[in-house]
Amino acid sequence: PRASPVIRERRRLLEARPHHYTCCMAKRKRKGGTAVLVPPSSPPVMQGLVGPRRNVPATIARPPYALTGDPGPSVSNVVRSPDEIAAMHRAGTAAAEVLMIAGSMVSPGITTDAIDARVHEETLARNGYPSPLNYRGFPKSVCTSINEVICHGIPDSRQLRDGDIINIDVTIFLDGVHGDTSCTFLVGDVDDVNTMLVRETRTSMYNAIDTVRPGAPFNAIGKAIDTHANRFGLGVVQDFIGHGVGTEFHSNLQIPHYYHPRLTRKMEVGMSFTIEPMLTLGAIDCIIWDDDWTAVTTDGRRTAQFEHTMIVTDSGVELTTVTDDGACAADIYRD
Ligand code: MF3
Ligand code: CO
Ligand code: CO
Repeated sequence: PRASPVIRERRRLLEARPHHYTCCMAKRKRKGGTAVLVPPSSPPVMQGLVGPRRNVPATIARPPYALTGDPGPSVSNVVRSPDEIAAMHRAGTAAAEVLMIAGSMVSPGITTDAIDARVHEETLARNGYPSPLNYRGFPKSVCTSINEVICHGIPDSRQLRDGDIINIDVTIFLDGVHGDTSCTFLVGDVDDVNTMLVRETRTSMYNAIDTVRPGAPFNAIGKAIDTHANRFGLGVVQDFIGHGVGTEFHSNLQIPHYYHPRLTRKMEVGMSFTIEPMLTLGAIDCIIWDDDWTAVTTDGRRTAQFEHTMIVTDSGVELTTVTDDGACAADIYRD
């Protein structure tokens, strides 16, 4: 996900005038999940050791930010050309395959660094560049977000533990475009409340995908997610949003996962974007660790996320982040 305009503005203010930070925070009325009263995830996720940056052979085409870390301003069209759409299916399929491989590694004792190594290797094997690597300085090739980590967790030496939940977010740059997809996996035996959180977060994503068609307003996405989350007493994170994705990792199109009455812009054939709701068992606000990436819930309660990249078509919507057989990692929860 990308930081929402609200959180980017808050960060800008914080840099300009640090003492204004709490004022800005306090003015915002937020709601969180309420129906389920669970304790914070325990023990909390701690920072581990982050290994060195992995190498990408010179033969692999890199996105423009790979060298400097700076993607620059978004300049791409919101609508993709037929050639770009074909490339997006190739990049999306590669991302779907690699996410399924990463998910198959999930079990107690495996480190997130080992998952990063495999994602890196499998991405290169498909001639892709792992999009997270050096995107705005991100140090690794995939995001791994455990328990109360909302998103943007950095792979490190931490071992997965029985009962954890982990989101793995794979993005691959291939043939000039990105495919961006994530799934939350259960580690060993996970309790009922957390299993519910994961399953219903997945359902909220598919309900939102079902609203996508030419002419539908963009706020139908957030409405579908909010409605489903409310039914289960789950919170919907607002500080990170879905995004246009194509020739750029994060383009101008903004896809909030909560209902936004004024977001009445209509979806158009050829638009490409992600839907990637983050649902919580409590607070929806985040704290960013001093690594400048890892976003955790303010109350330490758990959170789950699923993500697909899609294109608006004449007949509705087409997911790019599925295998040639139409499969994806999230199918493990299909009933
Ligand atoms: N894949 C994430 C998304 O869904 C973005 C990760 S940015 C990174 O938008 F730098 F952390 F990799
Ligand atoms: Co995304
Ligand atoms: Co992603």
